[in-house]
Order: sequence, then C-alpha cells, then structure tokens
Amino acid sequence: MLRLKEVEKAYGVAANPIPVLKGISFSIENGSFCAILGPSGSGKSTLLNIIGLLDHPDRGEVLLGDNAVNFASAEETARLRNRLLGFVFQSFQLLPRLRAWENVALPLLYRGIPKADRRPKALALLDRVGLGHRADHLPSELSGGQCQRVALARALIGDPQLILADEPTGSLDSGTSLEMMDLLKDLSRRLAVTIVMVTHDRQLAERCDRRIELLDGQVIADTVAM
Ligand SMILES: Nc1ncnc2c1ncn2[C@@H]1O[C@H](COP(=O)(O)OP(=O)(O)OP(=O)(O)O)[C@@H](O)[C@H]1O
Ligand SMILES: [Mg+2]
Repeated sequence: MLRLKEVEKAYGVAANPIPVLKGISFSIENGSFCAILGPSGSGKSTLLNIIGLLDHPDRGEVLLGDNAVNFASAEETARLRNRLLGFVFQSFQLLPRLRAWENVALPLLYRGIPKADRRPKALALLDRVGLGHRADHLPSELSGGQCQRVALARALIGDPQLILADEPTGSLDSGTSLEMMDLLKDLSRRLAVTIVMVTHDRQLAERCDRRIELLDGQVIADTVAM
C-alpha cells in the first residue's frame, strides 16, 4: 500500500515560498492502477517525484508498504527506491547503443548480476510486454510504442511493488496509447503491481481503477471506477 498524509511542498526562497502541494492525503491499495490528473502546473510531477523518493516533502508523511519513509536519510530512500519502485518516463529514456534486452537488463547489471542470469530474465519480461521477438533490436529500430514497452519491462525487472509513470503515453499516438493502457492494466492485475500514472488525458484516466485529480496543489476529486 501507498499512503500519503498531509504532504506539503513549496518552492522558492524561505522568505517567499510558493506552495506547490498544499496538504495531499490519500492511500492506494496494492495492485490498483491509479491516474493522477490535473492541468499543467497543478503539481502532478512534484507529487510523483515525492512518491518516487526523488524529492522530499516539506511536511507530511509518505508510507510505502510498512515503511514510513525517512527522507532525511539518502541511503534509506535509495534503498527503498531500488527495492520497491520502478519508473517509466514520457521520453522512454532507453540507451541508444544497447539492444532491447540489454536496456531491460540494465538495472540487474548495476546490481552485479551476471549476464547469464540477466538475459533470460530480460527475455521473459520482453515476452510479457509482447516484444520477445524484438529482443536484439536497438531502440532506433523500434517504434515509440515498442520503446515504451521496453522501458516498462525495464521498470519491472527489479520486481517492484509500485510503478510510477509520468505521462507514459505522452509521446505516443492515440491508438498506441490505448494499447499501452491495456498493457499497464493487465500487468497491474497479473503481477499485482501498483501503478500510479500521471496524465493530462481524461479519457485515458477514465480507464484506470482510480482517478485522483489535482488543481493548484490540492486534491479536488478522487474517483473509484465502477
Ligand atoms: N524545482 C522547482 N523549482 C521551482 N518551482 C518548481 C520546481 N518544480 C516545479 N515547480 C513549480 O511547481 C508547480 C508544479 O509543477 P509540476 O511540475 O509538479 O506540475 P505538473 O502538474 O507536473 O505540470 P505539467 O502537466 O506541465 O507537467 C509549477 O508551478 C512549477 O513551476
Ligand atoms: Mg509534469
């Protein structure tokens, strides 16, 4: 489970802080696929960065599973991030000289896992996202939708409990976006992984289990799909 309690964040100088998150509280059940929706500047990425332990709140609490996150300790946040979280970005962020399977396996390389163990695990995940037959291709030889599938397989390779995706369909056309949404939904069901996705797109958000809407740093609606 993911739980936020009265999370606040401001930018700017101490004498003149500009509040960006103004007391955000919610909890998200394991295995649910949740959209965070809101206009540009409403605080979506700031919130996702805090949930992803990439930034710290000024006030309030973040709980990941049983862990109340101690933002004061960089080692602890790094350890939790590596163990519990996977990230997907709008721009895919694949390394251009690495083949699809090598991109997927990269987090395992950083953990010192030998190649003989990395490749089969990467291939299994590429299969899972429907790209087993493209394992040896370079990103430049793949479509945008295929690149995002590779990025998704890479996010999954550490067996995370929570996937955080900031506009994961922002670089895809509408048909490919819908396919990506179906894939994310299927993965949240089958792997029981929680997915939190930031999007501008209300139609895509409506395909999620839950929609949390931000406006001006506050939650203005929180809707569970029927
Ligand atoms: N590092 C920063 N320093 C100062 N202000 C920031 C910083 N990051 C974000 N902001 C401000 O915080 C507000 C919220 O930004 P955020 O990136 O969270 O919005 P967003 O909802 O993700 O918008 P978009 O849909 O355009 O990505 C904006 O007004 C932005 O200018
Ligand atoms: Mg943003």
